[in-house]
Amino acid sequence: MDRQEPNPRIGGKGSVVFIATIAAYVASRGQTNNDYCSSKGAVVALAKALEVELAAKKIRVNSVSPGYVVTDMTLDLCDRYPWLADIMNNEPPKRLPQKAQQKPSKYSPDKFFIMASLNTKLILNTGAEIPALGLGTWQSKPGEVRAAVTYALNNGYRHIDAAYCYGNEEEVGLGLKDAFDNGKIKREDVFVTTKLWCTDHTRVEEGLDKSLKLLGLEYVDLYLMHWPIAMNPNGNHEKFPTRPDGSRDLYFERSHVSTYKDMEKLLGTGKAKAIGVANYSIRYLKELVPQVSVTPAVNQIENHILLPQQEIVDYCKELGIHVTAYSPLGSSGSPLMQLPVIQGIAQRKGCSTAAVLLSWHVACGRSVLAKSVTPSRISENLNLVPLDSNDLHEINAFIADTVAKNGFTRYVYPAFGVDFGFPDKA
Ligand SMILES: NC(=O)c1ccc[n+]([C@@H]2O[C@H](COP(=O)([O-])OP(=O)(O)OC[C@H]3O[C@@H](n4cnc5c(N)ncnc54)[C@H](OP(=O)(O)O)[C@@H]3O)[C@@H](O)[C@H]2O)c1
Repeated sequence: MDRQEPNPRIGGKGSVVFIATIAAYVASRGQTNNDYCSSKGAVVALAKALEVELAAKKIRVNSVSPGYVVTDMTLDLCDRYPWLADIMNNEPPKRLPQKAQQKPSKYSPDKFFIMASLNTKLILNTGAEIPALGLGTWQSKPGEVRAAVTYALNNGYRHIDAAYCYGNEEEVGLGLKDAFDNGKIKREDVFVTTKLWCTDHTRVEEGLDKSLKLLGLEYVDLYLMHWPIAMNPNGNHEKFPTRPDGSRDLYFERSHVSTYKDMEKLLGTGKAKAIGVANYSIRYLKELVPQVSVTPAVNQIENHILLPQQEIVDYCKELGIHVTAYSPLGSSGSPLMQLPVIQGIAQRKGCSTAAVLLSWHVACGRSVLAKSVTPSRISENLNLVPLDSNDLHEINAFIADTVAKNGFTRYVYPAFGVDFGFPDKA
């Protein structure tokens, strides 16, 4: 549809309303107007395809993406449905100038669906797209991870998360190669992230070179600082050097800001398309961002309904930093899948509990990493589902209760003995 023409479906009588522009808005926070429009275009196309599908089932659609008339309607919907404003972090979308307006009163849906799909692409502050769902590889054992990566890519994943510290980059690389060798998937189709380990903070380019060699790649799409703390580069262990008393051999002479400044230089080499951070609290971001020239593209943090870290998520949004959620299932053994609130939603929707946990992030505009080496689970995790207003309301209520009780659970907190500025660890 030409965005300059009035939407011919305004005032239709169907009972389903698609508000694709809201999804586009969530996906495009911190972006330029052009980025906003292109991500909106993608969501509109998806909504229109769904309309055709629904029409075939004799379900009438009232309005498919009011598009450029998003503003009043969206603001009105946020007023009427607080959970929707919550998703936008109580920050209603800004009005786009000189766009036709729609009367909000025309829309009174009793249910919303926030769409999420495996290949929803979220946009980084570099302009690049990051696929919403990535395959995690931490604790994926040698002998398992190569097949897992190939299986994932052959079955639709386009985002792989790796790290030097995981000790399996060579196998991850072989998994990528196997998928590329079958000719259907090209390097440029896949978003690959890896991370600089703490013992390499003083030799950043060398750290990336080691990872690239192991992965068998010429570049990564994203290079992250794994933790904002350096460890002795010449200690008694390559990855986990210790002091005589057994504690980690930290290298306080090196600040995370200096490390990041060296990471900035990588952008000119073409070996990293984007750089970012991981495990950054607000305090660390506040130290870093004013001192560097390139705002991190991503902050990869532990993020799930028992550790929403909303204050960091909000702060990243303010700075235009995309958040990637790790340990979304609660890490080893996926304990979050046992939570009654998640099981209840999954039962109602007829989907897996993993699907609910993963879809929640995408509905909120975050990418999410799920680790598995089990083919059936890798496939199961692909099936992201649309979450509706009831689902989101229940999740938000559960989170509010967790916050009120201070009942957070952090599954990943290596024994650095450093205060990283996370309120739950203060
Ligand atoms: N930046 C960082 O510091 C950092 C820290 C932690 C994680 N990460 C990244 O985030 C990724 C994900 O986090 P994570 O590995 O901690 O944990 P996770 O993805 O929350 O959970 C992984 C666990 O869930 C199981 N699982 C996966 N899908 C399942 C399903 N559908 N049904 C039942 N069980 C399922 C896996 O088992 P199987 O594998 O046996 O199937 C594994 O035990 C990591 O792999 C890593 O890439 C980054």
